[in-house]
Amino acid sequence: MKTPVALMMAVLLGAALSAGSQKEGERLFKAYCWGCHHQTAEAFGPSFRTIASKRNEGEIIAMIADPEATSKRLGYRRNSMPAFTDLNASEMETLARYILSFKEKK
Ligand code: HEC
Repeated sequence: MKTPVALMMAVLLGAALSAGSQKEGERLFKAYCWGCHHQTAEAFGPSFRTIASKRNEGEIIAMIADPEATSKRLGYRRNSMPAFTDLNASEMETLARYILSFKEKK
C-alpha cells in the first residue's frame, strides 16, 4: 500500500514543479529577454510565438548559450543578440520551455 501514495506524491510534486518553472521562465524572460523579444508580438527580435513555431528546445538553448555561432546556423546573416553567460544550464532549459509554451495549438 505504500507505493500508490508515494506515486501520488510524485505526481503532485511534478505538477507543482512544472507550474513553478513556468513562473520562473516568465521571471527570467522579463529579466533577460524582454527588451528585445515579446511573447506574441515582433519586437527587435522575433516573438516567442514565432520562435516556438519553428525551433526545438536544443536550438533555443544553443541560441541563448552561443548566439554568435547559432544565429548563423539558423540562417541569420549577422547576430545582434548578446550571450548570457550568467544563466546556468537549468535556467536556459527553463527559458526554452517557457518559449515553447507559446507555440500555437493547431
Ligand atoms: C539585445 C537584444 C536581444 C536580447 C536581450 C535577446 N535577444 Fe534573442 N534575438 C535578438 C535578435 C535581434 C534575434 C534575431 C537573430 C539575430 O540577430 O541574432 C534574436 C534571436 C533569438 C532566437 C532565435 C530566433 C529564431 O529564428 O528562432 C532565440 C531562440 C532567442 N533570440 C532567444 C532569446 C532569449 C531566451 C533571450 C533572453 C535570455 C534573448 N533572446 C534576448 C535580440 C535579442
